[in-house]
Amino acid sequence: MRITETSDMWWKNAVVYCLDVETFLDSDGDGVGDLAGLAQRIDYLAQLGVTCLWLMPFYPSPQRDDGYDVTDMYGVDRRYGDPGHLVEVIRTAHDRGMRVIADLLVNHTSDKHPWFVSARRSTTSRYRDYYVWRDTEPPDTSDQVVFPDKEDSIWELDERTGEWYLHHFYRHQPDLNVANPAVVEEIIRVIEYWLEVGMDGFRVDAVPFFVSDVETGAGQHATDPHRLLEQVRAFLVRRRGDAVLLGEVNLPYADQVRFFGDGEGNQLHMMFDFAAMQATYLSFARGDARPLRDTLARRPEILPTCQWATFLRNHDELTLDQLSEDERQEVFDSFGADPELQLYGRGLRRRLPPMLDGDPRRIRMAYSLLFSLPGSPTLFYGEEIGMGENLDIPGRMSVRSPMQWSSGRNGGFSSAAPSRLPRPVTGDGYAPEHVNVADQTRDPGSLWSCIRSLIWLRRTCPEIGWGRYEAIDVGAHQVFAHRCDLEQAATIALHNLGPDPVVVTLPPTGDDEEVELVDAFDHAHLAAATEPVDITLDGYGYRWLRLRRAGEAIIP
Ligand code: NOJ
Repeated sequence: MRITETSDMWWKNAVVYCLDVETFLDSDGDGVGDLAGLAQRIDYLAQLGVTCLWLMPFYPSPQRDDGYDVTDMYGVDRRYGDPGHLVEVIRTAHDRGMRVIADLLVNHTSDKHPWFVSARRSTTSRYRDYYVWRDTEPPDTSDQVVFPDKEDSIWELDERTGEWYLHHFYRHQPDLNVANPAVVEEIIRVIEYWLEVGMDGFRVDAVPFFVSDVETGAGQHATDPHRLLEQVRAFLVRRRGDAVLLGEVNLPYADQVRFFGDGEGNQLHMMFDFAAMQATYLSFARGDARPLRDTLARRPEILPTCQWATFLRNHDELTLDQLSEDERQEVFDSFGADPELQLYGRGLRRRLPPMLDGDPRRIRMAYSLLFSLPGSPTLFYGEEIGMGENLDIPGRMSVRSPMQWSSGRNGGFSSAAPSRLPRPVTGDGYAPEHVNVADQTRDPGSLWSCIRSLIWLRRTCPEIGWGRYEAIDVGAHQVFAHRCDLEQAATIALHNLGPDPVVVTLPPTGDDEEVELVDAFDHAHLAAATEPVDITLDGYGYRWLRLRRAGEAIIP
C-alpha cells in the first residue's frame, strides 16, 4: 500500500466526531441547536483535526428516542433548519477537507411514520408487510428487550387489528421487515438520496437487530442480514466507491466479524470495536494493561478494506455487556458504584472525566491510548474539552447535554432562556465556567490542546490505521506497549495505566542499526533501534516513539 493509494479509503485513517445538531450550537436563539449553528463551527472542528463528522439523526421525528424514531427518512427536522442548511453544512465541511456521514435507520421507524400509520390500519394495508406481525399471543420475551427499564416484551399488541408487531427497542419504534424486498428497495433509495445530497456514508444503527430470527407464531421469521448488507454495499460501491458504512454491531468478535463479510469484505466497511472499548475500562479500573492486550490479541484479522472504529465514549450508556459479571462489577466499583450512575444493569451513564475523578494525567493518558490504538478513533462531542455528564437528565441522555462553548449564558450554546433548551447544561465542577471551548482553545496546556496535538500526531501516523499491530512485552503489567508498522513507517506507543512512575525496558525492535527511535512529539533522538532502551513513564504517563531510518526526513 502506498500513501497515494489511500484516499478512496479515507476512513482507514479517519478521525470521526459524532455530534447531535440539536445540542451543538443554536444560531437563532430559539433554544434548539441548528444546522446554521453547526455550519459556523465547521472551522472549529477542522482546527481540532476532525476528518469526518457523524451527524446523529436530524430527520423529522417525534423525538421520543432523541431522533432515532424517524417519521421521514428523506427530511430534515424543521427545528434544525431546512435541507438547504444541511447542504451548506456538507459543502462547508467538504471545503475544509472533512467528510460527513449520517445515522441510517434500517431497523425501525417511528410508529408515527406514514408507513406504520397505514400498516396498522388494516391487515390488508399495502404497508402491512413493511413491519413484522404475529397473530398469536407472544411468549415471554422480556430477556430480549434492549431497554428493560421501559419495555418487557419485543411484541406490542395493536388493538385495531388484534395482532402484535415486533419492536426490539421502544414500543413506539416498530421494526421494519427487511425480509420484504420492497423495504430493501426503500432503504436503498434512502441511501441513494443522501449520497446525491452529498453525504459520504452512514453510521448504520442497530445492525444485529434487523437481522434477528423471531418466532412469529406462524413460524420462524428469518432474514439473512448478511445478504441485505451485501446488497446495500454493492449498491454503494456502484454509486460512490469512496462512501462508507460504519456499523453499530455490539457482539462478541466471532459473531461481529461476519458483518465485514466473511472474508469477502463486502458488507460493512467499519464497525465500532465494543469489545476493546469495554476491555479498556477494565484495564483502567485495574491499572493493568492485560485485559486490553488480551482482547486485542483475540481481535480477528480483517481485510485491508475493512476497519475498526475505536472509541472511549459514545452517546449511549457506556455498555459493559461483554464483560463477565465480576469484571463489570469491578468497573462499576471503580467508575460508578452508585446505582444512580448505572443503567440497565450493564452500563454507566457517565462521561469519561468524572469517571477518572477529573485527574488530568489519567484523562490525557486515556485519549493518548485511544489515538494510538489500531483503528480509526471516534470522539463524541465535548470529549475534546472534558465535558462531564448531567445526571439530572434522565437515563442515557445524561451525556447529551448542550455543547459548552464559553463560560457565558447556557455555556455559549444558545441565547435563549435556559428553560427552552432541549436539555439543561451541565453544572457543578463540569459547568461551562470550568469547562468550555473558548478558554481551552486559548490555553496551550488545556485538554483541548492536548487532544488536538494527539489528533494531528495521529494524522501523521497512517501506520496506526493501515498497519500491522503487535503488542510489546516491556515486563510491567501496568504498561500497555504496542507497535504499528506499515512498510517503512512504524510507531511504538507506551501507556502507563497505573498511578505510579515506572521504568520499563523496551527490547530491541528487531530493526537494523540504520534505524533510530525518535520521540514522536519533540523528535528527540532516544536510541538506536538495535539497543534495549529504558523508558521512564510518570504515573499515567505516555510516550509515542517513531522509528526513523538514518537520513530520512522527520515528518513535521
Ligand atoms: C442505537 C442508538 O445508538 C441508540 O441511541 C438508539 O436508542 C437505538 N439504536 C435505537 O435506534
